[in-house]
Amino acid sequence: MRKKIVAGNWKCNTSLQEGVELAQAVNSVVLERGAEDVTVVLGVPFTHITKVIDTVNTDRINVSSQNCAAEAKGAFTGEVSASMVKSTGSTHVILGHSERREYYNETSEILNKKVALTLENGLTPIYCCGEPLTIREANNQNDFVKQQLEETVFTLSSEDFSKIVIAYEPIWAIGTGVTASTEQAQDMLAYIRSIIAEKYGNEIAEATSILYGGSCSPKNAAELFAQKDIDGGLIGGASLKPEDFLAIINAY
Ligand code: G3P
Repeated sequence: MRKKIVAGNWKCNTSLQEGVELAQAVNSVVLERGAEDVTVVLGVPFTHITKVIDTVNTDRINVSSQNCAAEAKGAFTGEVSASMVKSTGSTHVILGHSERREYYNETSEILNKKVALTLENGLTPIYCCGEPLTIREANNQNDFVKQQLEETVFTLSSEDFSKIVIAYEPIWAIGTGVTASTEQAQDMLAYIRSIIAEKYGNEIAEATSILYGGSCSPKNAAELFAQKDIDGGLIGGASLKPEDFLAIINAY
């Protein structure tokens, strides 16, 4: 049974104190929610926020970094390695986000190194893919996303691929308030699941959590999450507002 996941990507936001308060707000309401069926992941700038997450419920509330170094360790000033992320008690690493591809020139080669190090350290990659508006307007989104996956996570063994989460984030929907339609999101996630099945077989395809990201909000989350192939969301702006993020969690 594939996991339902609501992941927040705080990006370059929150002071330490603001992050602690936000994590505590999420922690308390997820505990109150009681349902065991949704895994919440907080993609934070300060992974030591794990200290304010109720450790009794780490299977329901997890902390993720938003990146990791492409090297295991060493003289790479400013970098944070997967093993360092692991040491904080974090469980996930968001990789391949379009903002990192665009602003920091992350290539498939670099991302393959990061995915490998994330898996080697027992962390779960939340691996992002998604097309720019020009590709969508040309109706080439399926080929674009397939190439992104084939150059990276589709090079993994079946065993390793079965450990990852996929997040489809159309670039034209990120931070724009223009959410993909429910049909667009379902169609793409069904397509991603179909090419996973072609590559790794139906069992792994059916067990892979595939998330939607891109202007997901309390208004559209329930309709998106009700779709057959959508297993949750990767939430940016709305994850910084406790009431919105919790409303999205409760959309399940
Ligand atoms: O990683 C999630 C993020 O890119 C989506 O951002 O603000 O459109 O929810 P937002």
